Amino acid sequence: MRAGRTTDAPLIAAARGLVPRRTPVWFMRQAGRSLPEYRALREGTAMLDTCFDADLVAEITMQPVRRYGVDAAILFSDIVVPLRAVGVDVEIVAGVGPVVAEPIRTRKDLDALRALHESDVSPVLAAVAALTGPDGELGQTPLIGFAGAPFTLASYLVEGGPSRDHVHTKALMHSDPQLWFELCARLADIAGQFLRYQVLHGASAVQLFDSWAGALSRRDYERFVLPHSRVCLDQVRDLGVPMIHFGVGTGELLGSMATAGCDVVGVDFRVELTDAIARLGPDVAVQGNLDPALLFASRTAIEEAVGDILAAGRAAKGHIFNLGHGVLPETDPDALANVVELVHASPVTSVE
Ligand code: CP3
Repeated sequence: MRAGRTTDAPLIAAARGLVPRRTPVWFMRQAGRSLPEYRALREGTAMLDTCFDADLVAEITMQPVRRYGVDAAILFSDIVVPLRAVGVDVEIVAGVGPVVAEPIRTRKDLDALRALHESDVSPVLAAVAALTGPDGELGQTPLIGFAGAPFTLASYLVEGGPSRDHVHTKALMHSDPQLWFELCARLADIAGQFLRYQVLHGASAVQLFDSWAGALSRRDYERFVLPHSRVCLDQVRDLGVPMIHFGVGTGELLGSMATAGCDVVGVDFRVELTDAIARLGPDVAVQGNLDPALLFASRTAIEEAVGDILAAGRAAKGHIFNLGHGVLPETDPDALANVVELVHASPVTSVE
């Protein structure tokens, strides 16, 4: 059914290690951010209120697909949407990020994290269904559903907002591992269910964002984080859609991240794609990894960097072209359009 609807799409083929008809490309944070049509639409509505308005979600999700002809849409939402949906008092403050009114640091605080029900996110799922249904504007272009991984969500909840050093989060995981595991178990359930609902309503692939996992040593990652990310992905596995696992600054963690049971590992721009592929081995595809800052460089420099990444990607089981992190707000949309053209113009060759 649904999950098979876009199996011919280049993104799905590359994720599965088949030879796509062209190298697929999409951009993290392609929806919103740099698009003037996004800014116009968002005017006067708070970020998280926008995320619970089905019409706005569907429209903003489509904007980059119309403008760039990318090979996937990513749902316009945020990693804290399922937290707000279960009643957590969280806001997204412009230029700051998610801010949580009452941080979670004790066992009693866990009461704030009940299970996520489908009805809690019905406007989000209505947007997914409208986009991907028979009359949906997406047509054969796959929609990527997403969620924040337990560690990245926990970091916002425990710190109360964005953090550079993740001090309270690391202190909690080491001082009270039992409480940490209970917190992550609840988050893995919420995030996993959120992914599952998105796929059941029409998403053709999912991405788990563990954006801040790179703040951890490999030992701590494997002990305190990886098992929960695996549980999260386990909740979608039977639906058979490709699963992408991404984090920032994860050069040292790539091999471990692949063992969470994903089809694709997203590689950040600080790692040579060739090195990433060597660390990941032949069983997973890769996604990435143009430095988003390079979109401010000359066309010649961009062309060279894109060419290098495409050449490196040919050694992988599959390659989905992307940035190594999200689109920066001041990015010129024409620079992104240029990258899509370059990627689509490049010949696809399989590795023999
Ligand atoms: O195009 C897309 O990628 C889809 C939408 C999307 C958003 N957030 C919309 C958004 C996605 C996939 C996310 C994921 C997300 N949110 C992550 C993981 C990805 C990553 O970048 O590592 C994280 C860590 C968050 C938390 C968050 N939300 C941050 C750090 C911020 C930035 C705050 C700021 O203003 O600097 C947000 C806000 C946010 N989420 C915006 C958008 C379009 C900007 C808000 C606005 O336009 O007013």
